[in-house]
Amino acid sequence: MENFDEAVKEITAATSPEALEAIRVRVLGRRGPLTLAMRELGALDPEERRRAGALLNTARDRINAALAEATERLGRAALEERIAGERADVTLPVQFAGMGRVHPISQTIDEIVAIFGEMGFVFAEGPHIEEDFYNFTALNIPPEHPARQEHDTFYLPERADGTRLALRTHTSPVQIRTMQAQKPPIRIIVPGRTFRCDHDATHSPMFHQVEGLVIDRTSHMGHLKGCLIEFCRAFFGLDDLPVRFRPSYFPFTEPSAEVDIGCSRKGGELKIGAGGDWLEILGSGMVHPQVLKNCGIDPSEYQGFAFGMGIERIAMLKYGIPDLRTFYESDLRWLRHYGFLPLDIPSLVRGPLLGGAAS
Ligand code: PHE
Repeated sequence: MENFDEAVKEITAATSPEALEAIRVRVLGRRGPLTLAMRELGALDPEERRRAGALLNTARDRINAALAEATERLGRAALEERIAGERADVTLPVQFAGMGRVHPISQTIDEIVAIFGEMGFVFAEGPHIEEDFYNFTALNIPPEHPARQEHDTFYLPERADGTRLALRTHTSPVQIRTMQAQKPPIRIIVPGRTFRCDHDATHSPMFHQVEGLVIDRTSHMGHLKGCLIEFCRAFFGLDDLPVRFRPSYFPFTEPSAEVDIGCSRKGGELKIGAGGDWLEILGSGMVHPQVLKNCGIDPSEYQGFAFGMGIERIAMLKYGIPDLRTFYESDLRWLRHYGFLPLDIPSLVRGPLLGGAAS
């Protein structure tokens, strides 16, 4: 009778699932030696049949066990090979093909929040549809105040009690909401949408502002100036950017100052930086004592400063975007040109961290 040791040896040595399958078919198949030998058992006498049958069963069990073991061995090897081939190199640069872009308004907001975040400001926001009290009255702009006329306000229809809600004309109402909701010290940065009934090449009925508010026992004009000079230089990436504070008026700050940055307009081309000319970019001032009182804060104990700026305006200046209206046209070509990569997250600490020099 055939010895099946040879078959077991072949199975143990098989190097691929295909080779293993070929051996299995050859040894165990319908024309295979095992099947044929089983078939021949019928011709033997009973004593001989029992003996040979037992031997064949043992041989078949050995072959099946060897096959199972080889199948497992080859499967494991194939898996290991695949894992080795699939290893991901997480240090490779990210591929941006086909990715969306971050709108310059979003990017500019992120940049401003990152810069003030480094100074310890926290993010805050408020509703777009606002009570008259928060948008005007609490900010020291009572109903008869002429400043109301400068805010070409969108009003909602009159309510049953005769009052009207408005689309907020600036982000300053969030100052009031924050001061009413929390005790000083307060240090917030508030980006958001604002609305004025105005539409031409440099005005859009919807635009964005960012508000800042600091309230503490001893926060003074020097802190206001320090923060805003630091901000202007960080935002435009110019360490020596000239910054000027020009006396101004806002009903909710006293004294008030508008902030100009240095620029040159030589040859009709605007360039940010030293150049002898000035460009207004934001409004600021010490929070008016009446505004503090309106929020239940004692002006003999606390004081502070606020500032506000138009986001479109400084985005246009920083990124050389010539026309305000293009911000809202949803033109994909424009977005691909002026937009930012999604992982281009603004942060002052990012540079040193990447360079490995962070301490
Ligand atoms: N809210 C003012 C505006 O819309 C800007 C501002 C904010 C000025 C805070 C001073 C302080 O014009």
